[in-house]
Amino acid sequence: MLIVGLQGSPRKKGNTDTFLAAFLDKAARTGAAVRTIQAARAGIVPCRGCGYCETHGTCVIADDPMSTEIFGLLRQADLVVAASPVYFYGISAQLKVLVDRCQTLWSRKYVYKLKDPLADTRKGLLFSVAASRGRQLFDGVDLTVKYFFDAIDARFSHAMTYRGIESRGEISRHEGLAADIDEAVAKTVLPLVKRKKILFISKDGACRAPMAAALAQQRFGDRIRTGFGALQPASGLSVPMVRAMQRAGVDMGFRRPQHVDQALYGATPDLTVIVGADDDRRMRGIPGKKTIRWSPAQPVSSEAEAMDALRMEMAAQLDTLVQEWQ
Ligand SMILES: Cc1cc2nc3c(=O)[nH]c(=O)nc-3n(C[C@H](O)[C@H](O)[C@H](O)COP(=O)(O)O)c2cc1C
Repeated sequence: MLIVGLQGSPRKKGNTDTFLAAFLDKAARTGAAVRTIQAARAGIVPCRGCGYCETHGTCVIADDPMSTEIFGLLRQADLVVAASPVYFYGISAQLKVLVDRCQTLWSRKYVYKLKDPLADTRKGLLFSVAASRGRQLFDGVDLTVKYFFDAIDARFSHAMTYRGIESRGEISRHEGLAADIDEAVAKTVLPLVKRKKILFISKDGACRAPMAAALAQQRFGDRIRTGFGALQPASGLSVPMVRAMQRAGVDMGFRRPQHVDQALYGATPDLTVIVGADDDRRMRGIPGKKTIRWSPAQPVSSEAEAMDALRMEMAAQLDTLVQEWQ
């Protein structure tokens, strides 16, 4: 379970920074893994509006932190916290730069019609703070974040907004903040943390393990959280596998093989599925937890037809596998 916090204020230890640190600290104590992106210091290059993502599905700016890291984090996140002060009735320019770059994810969803495996379960939470008290103070922030969450496939969980707060760190003296955070964590974070976890592992984590993890996540989203890992991670996912998933409308973009220790962000899986490596004794589950060795057929080739057959076989077998285990 991963929470990605997007800190939109350029002010260090300001109100947004203070809130986000307190929220993530509380969330981490429930077992969630947390990451903060300091939008003002991340070095994100603004969108050029060139239209490349609408014709290629990826961003033309391929070498800044947005493309090399943040898209991947947004895809892995179970909860995204968008946190920004009100600047002229909108979010800060620093956070807006990050939001605008998510046009790439918008394109994958609406132009390419691809669906992220976590699309039905990812949540989004908005935090905002402002100095004045007007009735429409947060309307602009709310609208931008609503459409941002839609593009990144996060369901708007709720908004935490605070009026009349101006000086640095003043939010920490706000009566009721700790109770608000407790309530938000209980409502938004805990149900995600409590889901059962299934880890799919394979030798290089490039083809069958990620395919199985994505298909299982889509099928059993609210009930389980899946992850995939490898003993010796390959440098990228198998391209024929990614294409086979795209033909079924599943978006594998911005995911890469990772070592088994990093899969599921340190959480212990309730079930480990060792995919297609019966002979390799180094592949083991977690002592005391259930482990299944599963050998779906090797694809006969990397041709589209063979990869589609593998995807369909896996999808059918997953239903039985998960039902038997639960
Ligand atoms: C450039 C700028 C624009 C701002 N615009 C507004 C505004 O439109 N309405 C408002 O109530 N406060 C506005 N503020 C005040 C901040 O929202 C407020 O001080 C907030 O607590 C700052 O949060 P931070 O400490 O996380 O940066 C503005 C502040 C700055 C620096």
